[in-house]
Amino acid sequence: MHIIVAADKNWAIGRNNELLVRISNDMKNFRRLTEGNVVVMGRKTLESFPRGKPLPNRVNIVLTRQQNYDGKGAVVVHSEEELREELKKYTEEIFIIGGESIYRMMLPYCEDAYVTRLDYGYEADTWMPDLDKEEGWELAETGEEQTYFDLIYYFTVYKNTACKEF
Ligand SMILES: NC(=O)c1ccc[n+]([C@@H]2O[C@H](COP(=O)([O-])OP(=O)(O)OC[C@H]3O[C@@H](n4cnc5c(N)ncnc54)[C@H](OP(=O)(O)O)[C@@H]3O)[C@@H](O)[C@H]2O)c1
Repeated sequence: MHIIVAADKNWAIGRNNELLVRISNDMKNFRRLTEGNVVVMGRKTLESFPRGKPLPNRVNIVLTRQQNYDGKGAVVVHSEEELREELKKYTEEIFIIGGESIYRMMLPYCEDAYVTRLDYGYEADTWMPDLDKEEGWELAETGEEQTYFDLIYYFTVYKNTACKEF
């Protein structure tokens, strides 16, 4: 199981239920890694997508505590336990795609994290755990410097040496 996230220099990830910045090259990378696979997200993240609809060409699984929630085509699960049962059905790769609550919940069970690291501190209201301080997590790869207008960012990969079975 993998995490995929875009985080700023303070590990911020969102504000007002939106991303901090939309970088087309990062979106492309996100699509490349997740298409044909399974993506797991919280209800707020699903609702942040265009028209609140699941992402195409992927199995979308959404977590909500609302019993009659309409996932608009996403598989709806209501707890960590239900998610565990649901994930047994798939042989594809599983990507945890946010937001904050789901990253925190699933962090111990992820073997690695694809982190697009934005070299800027945004105003924010949601954060990813700081993987430079989380026990067991190590920075494994940092790609070449990328730019989007005047923003510098890097594609990085962190590995979890203490990954637990979900
Ligand atoms: N930078 C990035 O890569 C990235 C990626 C994804 C999201 N984001 C940003 O993150 C922000 C959203 O994060 P968030 O933490 O506020 O919301 P979220 O994690 O997307 O969704 C939270 C909701 O998920 C449901 N949930 C959480 N834990 C659950 C559990 N154990 N069992 C059942 N349901 C559960 C609840 O839904 P109910 O309230 O319906 O019960 C909860 O309100 C947005 O700004 C978004 O743009 C950023």
